[in-house]
Amino acid sequence: MTTYDTVKARLREHPRTWLVTGAAGFIGSNLVEALLDLGQEVVGLDNFATGHRRNLEDVLAATTGDPRRFRFIEGDIRDLATCRAACEGVEIVLHQAALGSVPRSIDDPIGSNASNVDGFVNMLVAARDAGVGRFVYAGSSATYGDHAELPKVEERIGRPLSPYAVTKLVNELYAGVFQRTYGLSCIGLRYFNVFGRRQDPNGAYAAVIPRWIARLLAGEPCEIYGDGQTSRDFCYVDNVVQANLLAATTTDPAATDEVYNVACGERTTLDDLFIALRDGLAAYAPHIADAQPVYRPFRPGDVRHSQADISKITRRLGYRPTHLLRDGLAHAIDWYVRDARSRAAAVR
Ligand SMILES: NC(=O)c1ccc[n+]([C@@H]2O[C@H](COP(=O)([O-])OP(=O)(O)OC[C@H]3O[C@@H](n4cnc5c(N)ncnc54)[C@H](O)[C@@H]3O)[C@@H](O)[C@H]2O)c1
Repeated sequence: MTTYDTVKARLREHPRTWLVTGAAGFIGSNLVEALLDLGQEVVGLDNFATGHRRNLEDVLAATTGDPRRFRFIEGDIRDLATCRAACEGVEIVLHQAALGSVPRSIDDPIGSNASNVDGFVNMLVAARDAGVGRFVYAGSSATYGDHAELPKVEERIGRPLSPYAVTKLVNELYAGVFQRTYGLSCIGLRYFNVFGRRQDPNGAYAAVIPRWIARLLAGEPCEIYGDGQTSRDFCYVDNVVQANLLAATTTDPAATDEVYNVACGERTTLDDLFIALRDGLAAYAPHIADAQPVYRPFRPGDVRHSQADISKITRRLGYRPTHLLRDGLAHAIDWYVRDARSRAAAVR
């Protein structure tokens, strides 16, 4: 039995009350679904800046648990009173709400700072005052900035390369201070390029995997920024759910006031990712087998290579990724194909 199995069994026996911020987003909605499946009481908070109501509808329809255990608050973490209302009676916070995307933050640093830093501090204050027992928050591999070492080890970071990276670094500094000054038990999770069901494929700031799947399905070209050798440690969302549940429930005080990489420890180039997606989708739509990418100039702010050392989270929290890239892509492709078909059927 893995640590994760034990944690899930305990949660089923003794349900807790959770707040998931960013609940209508990609990762947040997957957390809500996993928690409801485990019979937990869940409060969700979101302002729909980048999240979608249909994500919540999907979760409530799909859960094997009781959807009545979910309460949603439409609101903004930039408003302290909203954060306080959301934290009332909550034991564990999984803080996901933020404006993601490096290019978005370069276009609008003030907007990113307002949600990712001001909103973050509001959530810390609200959680502290509500007596929350554990505050787990979404950090980012962007925090490694220009540090060239591979794989990335938590203790060694470089200079941030974007306003987004600054906001995520500042989150770690604030969480540390709230633990040491006020005793709020905090754990940061540095996610590395997460992908999976319900990740938004649309818009200028969409992540590469859902964007390429949508483009390939629509017969449109996929753009690769740079020479195709840029690499990432792509992490399927179920691994991220696991990391959150382990961080939320660890009873080892020495495991708190820490940040952990959340990834698979693999490194995949964009060229290889494109081939994997094209070949995976060609099984559903054979004409996709001939698709070729279009190369564009490198984008400012993008880190060249990224790969996590996951030994710290493995050792301290008992994390074991259940899905490596191949398995995760197979699930994601299947989900996006089914989603595209059901949308097309709804339009007819
Ligand atoms: N997806 C990744 O690869 C990745 C990688 C590293 C870190 N992260 C972090 O993980 C978290 C979740 O990301 P995601 O990929 O699910 O993105 P997402 O955009 O799908 O979800 C973020 C959610 O937060 C909500 N939100 C934004 N600003 C808000 C505000 N001011 N008040 C209330 N709600 C607000 C959005 O509406 C959205 O539903 C973010 O903190 C992101 O920075 C994601």
